Formats: sequence, structure tokens, C-alpha cells
Amino acid sequence: MQGVQSYIKENKDRFLDELLEILRIPSVSADPKFKKDVIKTAKSVAAHLKKAGAQKVEVCKTDGYPIVYGEKMVDKNLPTVLVYGHYDVQPADPVELWDSPPFDPVIKKTKAHPKGAIYARGACDDKGQMFMHVKAFEAMVKNKHLPCNVKFMIEGEEEVGSSNLGPFCKKNKKKLACDVVLISDTSIISNKQPSITVGLRGLSYVEVEVTGPNKDLHSGVYGGAVANPINVLSKMIAALHDKNGKITIPGFYNDVIAVSKKERKKMEEAPFSLTAYKKALKVKDVQGEKGYTTRERASIRPTLDVNGIWGGYIGEGAKTVLPSKAFAKISMRLVPGQDPDKITKLFAKHFKSLAPDAVKVEVRPHHGGHPAVTPTDTPEYQAAAMAMKKTFKKDAIPQRGGGSIPIVSLFEKVLGVKSVLMGFGLNSDDIHSPNEHYGVFNYYRGIETIPYFYDYYAELKK
Ligand code: BES
Ligand code: MN
Ligand code: MN
Repeated sequence: MQGVQSYIKENKDRFLDELLEILRIPSVSADPKFKKDVIKTAKSVAAHLKKAGAQKVEVCKTDGYPIVYGEKMVDKNLPTVLVYGHYDVQPADPVELWDSPPFDPVIKKTKAHPKGAIYARGACDDKGQMFMHVKAFEAMVKNKHLPCNVKFMIEGEEEVGSSNLGPFCKKNKKKLACDVVLISDTSIISNKQPSITVGLRGLSYVEVEVTGPNKDLHSGVYGGAVANPINVLSKMIAALHDKNGKITIPGFYNDVIAVSKKERKKMEEAPFSLTAYKKALKVKDVQGEKGYTTRERASIRPTLDVNGIWGGYIGEGAKTVLPSKAFAKISMRLVPGQDPDKITKLFAKHFKSLAPDAVKVEVRPHHGGHPAVTPTDTPEYQAAAMAMKKTFKKDAIPQRGGGSIPIVSLFEKVLGVKSVLMGFGLNSDDIHSPNEHYGVFNYYRGIETIPYFYDYYAELKK
């Protein structure tokens, strides 16, 4: 192990340069404009895996963007770790809100990152975190210190719902056979307080369309007499929460598996400052479901949020128009027990029931995802906790996360294996936002920690 860690130290600068190079390719999976770049990124990841020492490296075709595969089988009697990550990124829009171009990475010092952070779309989510695994693997291979078999599966459609990953896993069960899935695509509490994510929320995502009159009308000639779909949509959306911040869809909470008082108390013991939280977001106050703390609202409770809303005239100046249509994108974060398809159906039924006869409503479901919980009494969790303890010199706290990685439940269903979510980002890294960044410290800490995970995992599986 000494050799592995020295190798990492000696190659630090190159490891950083190589990441910056990958960050320069705009692999935005949501926008077809970037198709060539997304594919270029897949090829680049494959080349890096090969150079690091992976065998059978393939850029596997799917109906969408390719999945990069590579492996190093050391001994069939050793446990096999499947590393999952994604090379695609969220759109950088609105680009004008970035302080530096999103695909031209720069390193800047910040309060949370006194050693500097890499500013670029995908720096933290997930290119930076995915690439830590490639570099840790390189260090292990070059030092002939690989205590597990390793398989890599790096996809390019995570940010758009991973719709081709399920069929790929089903078709390639043998190839992907493993003992555990290792993922770095989540966050830690702070650089001084490591944590391991033990739960993720699920997702139900819909688009709604409200139609009033069959064409845009003069708002003076018709206004007041004909339903305005934007007014109606706003009212319908407002009715989706009650005054206590509860979601009003009948049956919405029925299947929620409640978290015990004891567990909730434990959660609150982890360090957190509401004052700092508000200050960082420049808000005077927070808001949410009554009876729950800020952290609970953002992790163990389901939510409903409008992600986008549009309609009517939004150009320069004023246009007196009574629009024909109004639209919104609505997402619901789900917790263990809730089924995304069931929730989508409940939403559609309730939403339509809110509409007056003066409008027509259409609800179109998008991708969804199941929630996931990962146990702490497994060799993989223990190995991750031991590895973090080794490098951070502090015990990691298990923590439920608010985001979604739908493939975690898929791996459990299709491959029959659990995942371990050993992420190294910070919640303040602005993933999906302008000025996304990833600490240089976090990048190196991840690379140093991963080899310990393999060591401890192999040891615990003996
Ligand atoms: N890496 C995130 C999920 C995440 C972020 C989990 C932070 C925990 C902490 C992932 O790339 C993501 O953004 N997932 C999407 C869901 C997907 C179906 C588009 C999400 O959570 O919105
Ligand atoms: Mn991610
Ligand atoms: Mn993401």
C-alpha cells in the first residue's frame, strides 16, 4: 500500500491535468447539439481505462449514448467490485451566470476549499468523482497491488434517466457479475467530517399542459370572460401543498416507511448549522413540511417541486395576450416505500381533478426512479467506513441523501447486489448550478481513499 500512496503523491499533477482535459469536453447528454462531444468523452474514458491497466475495454453501443466497460480480473477467488459512474453532465445553462466558461476549467480558492477547487460543469458530478476511480485503479495496477477484481461501468445517460442502462445490465448479467457496486457520486458532510450516503430518494417527474381557448386571444376583448390557463395552472400548483407544507395528493404518503424516532435523533447529532445554511443561500428563512427539520425535509421526506413553468408572452416589452396554453415541469422526490409509477398515477388523477371545466389538462410522465437504502452492517459499508477513517482520521457518519441515483435499486433488482455510496463532493459544490466546482483536496482524498477500500473489502470478505 505504501507504494500505491507514494505513486499517487508523485503523479498528483498529472492526475489533475488529465481530469481537466476530460472536463473540457462538453458531454451534455440532454442536448443533442453535444452528441459528438458525449461520444468523444466515452472514447476518452475508455482510453484512460486502457492506459491505467484495464482489460477488455469496450465502448458498448446502446440505443442512446455508449456505456464504457473495462475490467481487471486478478483471481476468481477474490471478490469483484463493480465501479459505476457517469461521464455525462447537466447542461451548463444559464451560461451567463458562470464566472468562468463551464467547459474551460479553472482552479480557484474558496472558503470551503482553501486548497483550491476546480470550476467546470461535471467537476464534481460526476467526472471528477468517476475519474478518481480510474486514477486509484492506475496506482494499484502499476504497483501490482490489486486485492480485488475490478470492473468498470461508466455510463453517459445518468443525467437523462439512464434509460438504456437497465436493458444493458439485463443483457450482460454475466459480464457484470460482482459482489458489490462502488459509486462516488454523492457528498460528504465537510472536508473535516466524512460521511457515507446510506439512502437516496426516488423520483417521479411529469410535464403538465393546460389548454384554455384554442388560440391566443386579446386580453382586453376576452380577458375576464375566458379561463386564462396560466392563472388556472398557478392555482392548481398552489393547491398541491397545504398550509403545513404537506402534499395534498390523496394517498401520496400512504406507502412512506417512517423513520424511527431513534434514527431521527441520531441524524440530528451530525454537525449542521442552519444559520450557515441560510447564509450560504442568502435566504432569511427556510420553509418546508411542518414537524420536520431542514435536514429531514431534504432527505427522509418526500417533496413536490415545480422545476419550470412557461406560457404566454415572455419577450421584450408588454403584449396584452390571453394565452391558449400553459406548461410546467414538476418533480416529486420519493422516499423508501413509495413507488414512482404509482405516485405518477396518483399525481395525474389528482391534478386533473383540480382543473375547472374551462380548461383541458394533459399530464405526461418523464423518467422516474426508485428510492434506495443501503445497510451499514455489510462488508462494503464497513470497508468504506474504515477507508475513510484511515485517510480522514475521523469516523464517517452514515447519512441519508436527498438526491437520486435510480440505478442503485436497478443493480439490486437485476444484478442482485448492493451498492456502497462513497462520494467525496460537498453539498455546496453547486452541482447542476452555475459555477459547479470540486475541491482539489476532495479529488486527491478520493484517490487516496479508494485503494484502502479495496484492501479492507478483500480482508472482510475472506
Ligand atoms: N449525483 C447526482 C445525485 C446526487 C447528488 C445524490 C448529490 C446525492 C447527492 C446525480 O447525478 C443526479 O443528479 N441525479 C438526478 C436524477 C436523475 C434521474 C436525473 C437527480 O437527483 O436529480
Ligand atoms: Mn451524478
Ligand atoms: Mn447529476
